[in-house]
Parts: sequence; C-alpha cells; structure tokens
Amino acid sequence: MKKDLLGLKDISAKEIENILETAGTMKLILGQPNKKTPHLQGKTVVNLFYENSTRTRLSFELAAKYMSANAANITASGSSVQKGETLIDTAETINAMGTDILVMRHNMSGAPHLIAPLVSASVINAGDGMDEHPTQALLDMLTIKEKKGGFKGLKVAIIGDIYHSRVVRSNVYGLTKLGADVSVGGPTTLMPPGMERLGVKVFNNVEDAIKDADVVMGLRIQLERQKKGLFPSIREYYRFFGVDNERLKLAKPGALVMHPGPVNRGVEFSSSVIDGEQSVINEQVTNGVAVRMAVMYILSRGGFED
Ligand code: CP
Repeated sequence: MKKDLLGLKDISAKEIENILETAGTMKLILGQPNKKTPHLQGKTVVNLFYENSTRTRLSFELAAKYMSANAANITASGSSVQKGETLIDTAETINAMGTDILVMRHNMSGAPHLIAPLVSASVINAGDGMDEHPTQALLDMLTIKEKKGGFKGLKVAIIGDIYHSRVVRSNVYGLTKLGADVSVGGPTTLMPPGMERLGVKVFNNVEDAIKDADVVMGLRIQLERQKKGLFPSIREYYRFFGVDNERLKLAKPGALVMHPGPVNRGVEFSSSVIDGEQSVINEQVTNGVAVRMAVMYILSRGGFED
C-alpha cells in the first residue's frame, strides 16, 4: 500500500474514483449543523507550508478538525527554517512529535517525494513547485462529476499559465485517466514543450481551445514566478487569452467556469464570468474540504493500493 499522496501521476483511475466517492460521502457531513465526526479521532495532522496559501491550508485544517484530529500549522516564515534548519530536519522534527499526516507545500518540485520515504507519517503533497497539486485536481474532478455526471468524452479546456502550473499537471493526469478529452491553451511562452505527450491537445489561441468545451478552467497568471517577460503585459494577456462573456459563448451552453484560485480578476476571466451563472468557483472551494477529508481518511485506513 502507498502511505502517501504525492501526485495523481502514480495513482490508478480506480483509486481516484474511490477518493471521489468517499469525498461525496464526506460532503454530506459538511451539510450538517454538527460537522464533528470521529473519522480521525486520536490522529495528528500537521500542515507544513513553505509557500502562501488560503484555500489549501485552511481546508486541510478544517477537514482535520471536522474529523476530530489534532491539527497544527507551521509556516516557513514563523519557524526555525528562518534559522537555517533544512527541510529534511524540519520534517523529521515534526514526524518525531507523533504526527500521523504531514501536509506539505513547497516551492521546490519533488520536495514531498524527498520527505515521504524519510518519515513514518503519511505525506500529502499540497503543491510542489511546478510539479503537482493533487488535492486541487481531485476537488476540480469532484465538482465536474457532480455537475456533469462523469468524465468520459467530456471536453475540458484549461487556459492560462500552463508552464508554471502544478494544477494543470495533476488535472491532466487525473482527467485523462478517467476518460476526459483535455485541451490546454495559452501563450507559446507559457506552454511547456511536450505537453502533447501527456495526451492533451495544445492550442496557442483561446478561441480554438475553448470551442465546444464542457468545462472552461482558468489558471492564474503566476506573477511571482515570472522572472522574465513571458508576455508583453497583463493588459495584452487579457486581450488575447482572457475569457469574457463573448468568448465564453464559444464553449457549450452551460459549460462550467472553473478556477483553482486565487483569481486575478480581469486577467484570466472578466469579473462578469467569475461571478456569472456558469461559475462554480465557490463550489470548488467547498469540495476542497470534502476531498481533503476523504484523502486523509483513506490514508489513515492504510493508504492507496500499489
Ligand atoms: N488553489 C490553491 O492552491 O489556492 P491557495 O494557494 O489559496 O491554497
């Protein structure tokens, strides 16, 4: 059994379906006035975040607390990382305090893969550099499943900064495993070479990418990771790749508008699209708690099949 969730690249379609089904059950708990369940009673969950987060960190913390776990948070800025402690020493220190589940976000791709074999705790990747963000893709998939009923033959268009995005990689692995037809669109300078090899169609204009799509997912332009000018200006990005109500009409009627957040309003999507009838962005956030409850519960029961 696998004790960790490091990415969707290495888990099977059957395991993904199991997580989504379990998350559906967990979501019923979120609708109750009393959200406390004993699923993780006596377990300890630590969130170790080397990068900023609102949704992921809070939803892991709430998910752990709803399931009666002991939950604690550490950020790099407020820890002994500032005194020069290494990632491995930090993780081993947290592990030595009786931690059962270590949720990690790190700016370095592969950081959770480095730590997982060194600790007895289950490691959950909450986003590593430009590699994967598996629980984000799982919550996206739960939202799509709820709204569209399944994935086979569904056209999902993912638009934006494909190069720097860990969300796109996890979504591509997960969605293609379950039979969706995935297109990615963005400026050539934000498109990594070899995306086609992951089984997706690649477009360098937004119109072709979103034509007849069932789902239009925007990705944040990651200004903090742009070391050199990969496109002339934000205004030009919006002009050529931003999705407004006119462009959204190219997708199928009733297409879902999704975004992992945080959104740059007026960059990836117009405000009218973000706040419009087709947007399920807030439902994605709710599903994030359900998915994280499901993942932690499955890991506490022995983990994923090899
Ligand atoms: N989607 C996502 O990972 O958001 P946060 O950075 O706020 O956790």
